[in-house]
Amino acid sequence: SDVEPLRKALLEWYSKVHETRGMPWRKPYDSSLGPEARSQRAYEVWISEIMLQQTQVATVKPYYNAWMEKFPSIRDLAASDIDTVNGSWKGLGYYSRAARLLNGAKKVVNELGGRLPDNAKDMESKIPGVGRYSAGAICSIAYNECVPVLDGNVHRLLSRVLALHALPKAKQSLDVLWNGATSMVEGSDRPGDLNQALIELGSTVCKVRDPSCETCPLRQWCRAHKCQNAGDKGLSGVN
Ligand code: ADE
Repeated sequence: SDVEPLRKALLEWYSKVHETRGMPWRKPYDSSLGPEARSQRAYEVWISEIMLQQTQVATVKPYYNAWMEKFPSIRDLAASDIDTVNGSWKGLGYYSRAARLLNGAKKVVNELGGRLPDNAKDMESKIPGVGRYSAGAICSIAYNECVPVLDGNVHRLLSRVLALHALPKAKQSLDVLWNGATSMVEGSDRPGDLNQALIELGSTVCKVRDPSCETCPLRQWCRAHKCQNAGDKGLSGVN
């Protein structure tokens, strides 16, 4: 389809950036993993995505590494307690995230046989604190499932690419943007990389103010860039 050249440009940009940023939760998708190892990958990505929700990449890295030393598996986490978990979270802020991780781990171990759900739909409905965004991120990255992500960064980026003039938080806008995010990953063989490329492009290039359109791999497809109004508030989304 005609989204293919855009995906290619995005993935080329991503492989350059990716090699230099060294995020420990990013590992190449391995289709040969069995169910237990797949759940382990989902556990790692789950922890990273919840940490990254309200905290920057550079801050998250050392916390993520320390967390994995302390709670290497979802069973280790489920066997812990709120004080220990909050101690590991100290300095990250928004402590309710840590409590949700602990509760989610307990539910997985006590009610779901110790394995995280193996698809985004079940991840979202069964794991407390995992919404559509987190389920999409976890399952596209850990399972290579073709499900979309729409966080604040991707919201802004797609609002600009599509030159969406409607109020960003309106229901119709969200539908249009989720559909746009879906068409980015549908039928792709690298949905996790595509989603992470969108997130990262949104946070580092398609910034709220002074977007760096000159270095953007998507500028030839960007309607806001074509109209020279990528920085226009009306096209910049909620962020
Ligand atoms: N922010 C949220 N998820 C992320 C990811 N997988 N990589 C980089 N930044 C992110």
